[in-house]
Amino acid sequence: MLKKLFSRQDIATTVKDLGRRIENDFVNEEILFVCLLKGSFIFTSDLVRQVANPSRVDFMRVSSYGNQMTTRGNVEIIKDLEEDIEDKNVVIVEDIIDSGLTLSRVKDMLLTRKPKVLKICALIDKRCRREVEIEGDYVGFTIDDGFVVGYGIDYAEYYRNCPDICVVVEENEV
Ligand code: IMP
Ligand code: MG
Repeated sequence: MLKKLFSRQDIATTVKDLGRRIENDFVNEEILFVCLLKGSFIFTSDLVRQVANPSRVDFMRVSSYGNQMTTRGNVEIIKDLEEDIEDKNVVIVEDIIDSGLTLSRVKDMLLTRKPKVLKICALIDKRCRREVEIEGDYVGFTIDDGFVVGYGIDYAEYYRNCPDICVVVEENEV
């Protein structure tokens, strides 16, 4: 079952604050937001409305794969950006940083395209689960281990439409 972790009001306050921080770092500059699908589609749509800078939004979808035979954390691009990011101020918008493997690969990939600035904005950071060194420049919530859903984040593609962020708990843990 689901236990509410962050209410829609908590989320709105946090997203507003993230927007302020991004605005302060990019005064009078244009920003290209890179929404990592699917998990950050709602977060991105709220975040960009809290930023007054001239902004554009592009979308990217990657899938992580790996088994005993291949290195875990390989990332395949399912849908690439449509924009050229060379010399642009780019902010990657991610739902959750967990092991950090996905984001570190995406970051390396995008850095080869020579953006002017590349920042990471993550709604949730599970710092204790990190396996590679990567930090979000703008982080909404830091949580301990636990599987969360809602506000765009799924479990088996469900619960993305839940307006609050909830943690999935076993019945006997309630
Ligand atoms: P990483 O490569 O281990 O950092 O994985 C990050 C990705 O795993 C996130 O973008 C999410 O799509 C997914 N993920 C990690 N933790 C959760 C969770 O608690 N709920 C839903 N998806 C998660
Ligand atoms: Mg994701």
